[in-house]
Amino acid sequence: MRDSSKTRSIARGPAGYPLVGNLPEFLYDKLGFLSRCAATYGDVIKLRIGEPTFLLNNPDDIKHVLVLNPDNYGKSPRMTSARGKKLSGAGLLTSVGPEHLRQRRMMQPVFYRKTVESFSRIITEGVGEMLARWVEGMELDLGCEMMGLVQRNIVKTLLGADADNDMPALLDAITIRRLYMEHVFFSPFPEWMPSRIGWRYRQAMHCIETIVTRAIQTRRARSTDTRDLLSLLLCAKYDDGTAMTDQQVRDEVVTLLVTGYETIGEALTWTSYLLSQHPAIAAKFFAEVDEVIGARPPGVEDLPKLPYLGMVLAESMRLYPPTWIFIRIAQAEDTLPSGATIPAGSKIYLCQYVMQRHPRYFPDPERFDPERFTETAKKERPQFAYFPFGGGARVCIGEHFAKMEATLVLASIAQRFRLSLVPGQTIVPEPKMTLRPRGGVRVQVFRRRQG
Ligand code: HEM
Repeated sequence: MRDSSKTRSIARGPAGYPLVGNLPEFLYDKLGFLSRCAATYGDVIKLRIGEPTFLLNNPDDIKHVLVLNPDNYGKSPRMTSARGKKLSGAGLLTSVGPEHLRQRRMMQPVFYRKTVESFSRIITEGVGEMLARWVEGMELDLGCEMMGLVQRNIVKTLLGADADNDMPALLDAITIRRLYMEHVFFSPFPEWMPSRIGWRYRQAMHCIETIVTRAIQTRRARSTDTRDLLSLLLCAKYDDGTAMTDQQVRDEVVTLLVTGYETIGEALTWTSYLLSQHPAIAAKFFAEVDEVIGARPPGVEDLPKLPYLGMVLAESMRLYPPTWIFIRIAQAEDTLPSGATIPAGSKIYLCQYVMQRHPRYFPDPERFDPERFTETAKKERPQFAYFPFGGGARVCIGEHFAKMEATLVLASIAQRFRLSLVPGQTIVPEPKMTLRPRGGVRVQVFRRRQG
């Protein structure tokens, strides 16, 4: 018999509407709806959004799902189905069970801190080229600028110099692919309905696959040691000493072309926006960059010497986590540490945007305050009060790369420019595939010193 005390810790969310439940409120304002539920109903909330859905807003429960009992909480079939694999790449992101474990063990060394640091030059050169185009007083769309930069960086990191000739076609294809994925996830129309974006997407995928296949063939034929991410993937070995097939490598490259830039672009946009709004924090941030790096190009040796920059980035990803939510499906009934019993088949919402604003762990949660990320402050919080990169066996494999890229880009900008928000804009987050500022962020750039 079920112990009723265990289900007591689950709060029923708002009543919603007949038949459609909470769906209209959720679709109308996802962030607002989930935040209101968390503030009103507690740490485990049952929502009426299709199948039984639970919003978890308790770090211990989140840890349980991601780390302590992950086998019971699979990824959504939307992601892992044949269709999901076609959209997001049949690679690490969408594989499950033993296949995921095997793939992850083989790919992990490629993403070790020391290995990804070997790509730092690509990033500093990329940001250097971007900043060389910036002139005093110029107005620009921060999101577009950052997205362009990180797209070029991931293509160069993956394909090295071979990408140079194909860069315009690849950037175009990657952008179309991103737009199509959003179309599929957010459009009210079914995917099979003919659409112009669908047609462009098929062309884009053909372009990406052709270029990646050619790059693989070039690497296989070449005897010299090339050190781009693609070469590292080609050399990576499973435990039994075998390597990936060309098809597997292509799938992983396609996956990394999806996962490896948009989130960083959003993090850079939000952090730069927040700095433009908080002059005292920006002054401390600039002072650290000036003292540690001065006017020379930043390098990986500077990364550990920029603790305040790290705190600013962490606090920015607390308020505006690029991955704002992800979903798991309970395979069997399970009891969470909070005492809540989750029925089999339930959908679990792990929402960074809501959890990372919990006033119990982040007092005055809307305030931008990097001091929340001093070593002492971090130790005082449960681990999963803050999880921008997820956790457990499926924690983001690109975390070191993302932090390195974000640090080098933010430091390079700070060396030369300060950004000022163009007046008359209200910046609000829009929860799409990633969390982005609705309508963009227009800024003006002003030189801090001659670069
Ligand atoms: C600020 C930047 C980034 C954020 C916030 C972020 C966030 C995340 C999160 C939350 C997950 C876990 C999703 C889940 O468990 O369902 C994830 C997984 C993943 N990320 Fe990232 N990511 C970032 C950058 C990157 C980069 C730069 C790469 C690659 C170069 C990357 C590659 C991946 C891959 C392949 C996975 C799937 C890992 C697996 O399932 O084993 N990410 N990321």
